[in-house]
Amino acid sequence: METFESKKPIYLDPNQPIDRRIEDLLSRMTLEEKIGQMCQYSGITKEYEGMIRDGRVGSLLNVFGAKETNRVQKIAVEGSRLGIPLMFGLDVLHGYKTIFPIPLGLASTWDPEVVSRAASIAAAEARADGVHWTFAPMVDIARDPRWGRVAEGAGEDPYLGSVMARALVEGYQGASLSDQNALVACPKHYVAYGGAEGGRDYNTVDISERTLREIYLPPFRAAVEAGAGTIMSAFNDLNGIPASANPYTLKTILRDEWGFEGFVVSDWNAIGELINHGIAENIFEAAEKSLKAGVDMDMQGDVYRQALLKLVEEGRISEERINEAVKRILKIKFKLGLFEHPYVDPEHAKKVIKCREHLEAALEIAKKSIVLLKNEGSLLPISKNVESVAVIGPLADDREAPLGPWSCLGDPRDVVTVLDGIKSKVSPKTKVLYAKGCEVEGSSTEGFKEALRVAKECKVAIVVVGEGREMSGEAACRAFLDLPGVQEDLVKAIYEAGAQVIEVLMNGRPLSIQWSAEHIPAIIEAWFPGIQAGYAIADVIFGDYNPGGKLPITFPRTVGQVPIYYNHKNTGRPPSQVNRWTSKYLDIPYTPLFPFGHGLSFTKFEYSDLEITSNEAGEKDTLTIRFKVKNAGKYRGDEVAQLYINDAVASVTRPVKELKGFKRITLEPGEEKTVEFTLTLEQLSFLNQHMKRVVEPGIFKIMVGSSSEDIRLTGNFVVKRYIEFS
Ligand code: NOJ
Repeated sequence: METFESKKPIYLDPNQPIDRRIEDLLSRMTLEEKIGQMCQYSGITKEYEGMIRDGRVGSLLNVFGAKETNRVQKIAVEGSRLGIPLMFGLDVLHGYKTIFPIPLGLASTWDPEVVSRAASIAAAEARADGVHWTFAPMVDIARDPRWGRVAEGAGEDPYLGSVMARALVEGYQGASLSDQNALVACPKHYVAYGGAEGGRDYNTVDISERTLREIYLPPFRAAVEAGAGTIMSAFNDLNGIPASANPYTLKTILRDEWGFEGFVVSDWNAIGELINHGIAENIFEAAEKSLKAGVDMDMQGDVYRQALLKLVEEGRISEERINEAVKRILKIKFKLGLFEHPYVDPEHAKKVIKCREHLEAALEIAKKSIVLLKNEGSLLPISKNVESVAVIGPLADDREAPLGPWSCLGDPRDVVTVLDGIKSKVSPKTKVLYAKGCEVEGSSTEGFKEALRVAKECKVAIVVVGEGREMSGEAACRAFLDLPGVQEDLVKAIYEAGAQVIEVLMNGRPLSIQWSAEHIPAIIEAWFPGIQAGYAIADVIFGDYNPGGKLPITFPRTVGQVPIYYNHKNTGRPPSQVNRWTSKYLDIPYTPLFPFGHGLSFTKFEYSDLEITSNEAGEKDTLTIRFKVKNAGKYRGDEVAQLYINDAVASVTRPVKELKGFKRITLEPGEEKTVEFTLTLEQLSFLNQHMKRVVEPGIFKIMVGSSSEDIRLTGNFVVKRYIEFS
């Protein structure tokens, strides 16, 4: 007699290999059900519930919470013909409810381990609450701080960006997607979205093949190599072909060159927007172009649902291509273990979310993300016994801004403000006075009087200024990079009243704070540090933590210098102060306000004993770079030792510097450590005129230092042979 077990369809049998389960399931699906798997909608409505029952929805975004996801999942699993579970997606970018620094802040740690930890905590919280899939990491290189989405990524450098991309994917996905603490990652926005002209979101991108391959693609490649299960195709037009209908990037590069096996989801209605781009006359053409190019799932556009059946019937799309997309999607669902564990336990969610361990990690990582931009006369740290402190500024007691953009389910009530943090730190005798001074935006200076009164009564004024929570992120581009509103006037007024000013910045992009950089003795870049903001910042101000973060992006003096980035070319006329006919400005220095990699410490680090050894072994040649870093000051502190190279003469022009390695180390006063990097020759390679990856014989300069401008040790290395990489 047949047992129940033997009747169970293969696709529901966890002991069968995934590919077999997929084939079995696919063979049972109607074309409409297959197309359903390729459709994703935002939120949940009665209409969507009906569609789920009919097998017309594969995934939902923006549905979360253990009870709610269980409720909706039940409709799919128990109410639809084949019971295929839904995949719930959400933008979990820098925390779920325990909010960490924004991704630009995470990158400022230059510490992939803690960045990975932040992602794994975010994943554990979100998965506990029924979410399976994060639309993260955002790995778009951003060389234009006007672009609001600078906040969501790792900054301007392809190497740092790649290290962070890998760390984040590994953190989200963990060792196995079936682990109930893991989320599937979705590196975005593929590709070159950050290259938007004028720094204006969604704008045209027109870049060379070289720039595409050398600058914008590497972090995506790193994310794919780290095993990212999905990828999001971007909104932008790339060299005339929109990224969500681009077979060159979606097929030739992603699938053929990199061997990506996951599925591609479009950005929000990016398929429908092909009509606006002017490459499709209607949704049918749009769907045909996107699917043929390689987009497997339609986010919120409803284009695939409306168009694909007809396209298959007319023979414009093969059922094979539909099957391919569905198989990729189902594979991720099987890998997630959704058929075995479609529901989550609300009690488990309560235990995991915002647990003590997560809050402690949020504090540690927030501290690591802080960058000390300036500290003249070692004004910082200040004593906790200081008689009086004035805490001033529109962000000083703001609970929203520290969460930053895309802060998922972060709750402002959980945020420790700077004022809270300072109060918790100073001695019981210290007088702490607060005045808002002004709003983040707007022209009213009414609050200045009170701010000045407070400042005059105190020994030190801590002024917390920057951008509001919604001033960076998607569709949050700015044509000016100054402090918004009258905030700079507030800082000036307090400074001119004779107060000793410490400026704390909270912002999602580099700001052109030239006046402050010239006048204010101590400036702390805190970015948007997350829910532990106030404690982290106060720890730095009062010396319980010695800051060691470094800028992942260049700060311009003024918006007119943009784009400005450290890994630029030398040009035929490199800038010279004494020669007018060189590449510079008449009205402002050509140099940045604060360079890439910059960040100070309360202590001093000395670099010495650079050794460069080459180990010649054919294509596998490696280069070992070794040097010593010593803490020559009196505070324990972190240094991020940075390794840059320059290919002195090559067949195509090369950047003046390229980051190739970094290490964040902690040193006790007087302690010395040896730092070692191993470079492969492939890491020295570049794309020649024929777009072949080569290393050419000749001299490479090796530069080691504390920032891209603060180079402490230099040496040379000679490559003897020409090597072409496949
Ligand atoms: C549009 C954004 O561009 C993308 O980053 C995000 O993941 C989706 N919306 C979903 O919220």
